[in-house]
Amino acid sequence: MLTPTPISADPAAGHGPFETARLAAAQLTEALGRNDHRLAVWLGSGWQRAVDRLGVTATVSTADLAGFHRSGAMGHGSDVHSVRIETPDGIGVQALVFTGRTHLYEGLGPAAVAHGVRTAAAAGCRVVVLTNAAGCMREGWGVGRPALVTDQLNLTGASPLTGPLPPPPNDSRHVDLTDAYHPRLRDLARNAAPDLPEGVYAGFHGPEFETPAEIVAARRLGADLVGQSMVLETIAARQVGLEVLGISLITNAAAGLGGKLSAQEVVDVAHAAAPELAVLLADVLAALAAHHDLWQDPPS
Ligand code: HPA
Repeated sequence: MLTPTPISADPAAGHGPFETARLAAAQLTEALGRNDHRLAVWLGSGWQRAVDRLGVTATVSTADLAGFHRSGAMGHGSDVHSVRIETPDGIGVQALVFTGRTHLYEGLGPAAVAHGVRTAAAAGCRVVVLTNAAGCMREGWGVGRPALVTDQLNLTGASPLTGPLPPPPNDSRHVDLTDAYHPRLRDLARNAAPDLPEGVYAGFHGPEFETPAEIVAARRLGADLVGQSMVLETIAARQVGLEVLGISLITNAAAGLGGKLSAQEVVDVAHAAAPELAVLLADVLAALAAHHDLWQDPPS
C-alpha cells in the first residue's frame, strides 16, 4: 500500500522548484498506483515507439501533474508511463517513461527544463536515461544510428542550479560533473549494444539550428554530437544524486557538414529509426535493471 505523502507545496502559490517537484512526485505516485519507481527514461525524437516494446502498467498525463508544461517540440508526447523492466531472476525494476520534455528554447526557463528530472528524483528514482536526436560532427558515424554520450559541453549559457537549493543531503550548488554520464551505466549499455559509437554532446540553446561556424567551434572544443536538450537535465540530475545515461540518435550531419538542415528531416530520420531504437532501448533498460547494485538502498 502507498503511504500518502503530505503535500504542502502549491505551485500556484509560488512554491520553489523542489517543493513543486515533491508535489508532482506525490501526484505521480498516486495516479500510477505505486511508489517503487527507481529508473526514469526520457524519450526524445525518434524514441517514442520504444514504449511499444516495454510493459506499460499505468499511464498519467503530465497535464495532471504540478509544474509540467505541454511539450511544444515536434515528435514529443506528454505522458508518463509506469513500466515493468523484467530481470532474469524475476525481481524486476519499475521505471517511469516520460514521452515529452521541456526544452530551454521554449522560453520557460531552466527550472522548467529540470522539473521532470527533479520529479523523478522526488519519486524515488536513482538512474535516468536521457535520449534525444542529435546532429553529428564525425564522418562515418552514420545518420540513423544511435550513439552513447560520454560527456557534455553546456553551451546554452544557462544552469538549472542558480535557484533555490534542494533539500539535504543534496543541498549543494557546486555539483561535481566529473562523471556526468556515469561510466558504469555506459559499460552496461555497451554490453547490451557493443557497436555504438561514443562521444561528447554539445548542448546549444536553440531553437535555431547552429551556424557552420558554431559547429567548427564546438568541434574544436571537443564535441562530436550537437543538440538542444539534455545538458541541463543532466546537471539537475547530478545535483539530486541521480546517475545519468545519455543516448543520442544521429539524425543529420551538423550544420556545414552536409546539406541544409530542417526539423522535418530530423523527424523523418527519427521515424525511420524508431523500430531499431525500440529494440536498443529495451535491451539497454534490461541490462540496467539486471544490475542490482544500482537499485540497492544506500548504506545508512
Ligand atoms: N542541431 C541541433 N539539434 C539537433 C540537430 C542539430 O543538428 N539534429 C537534431 N537535433
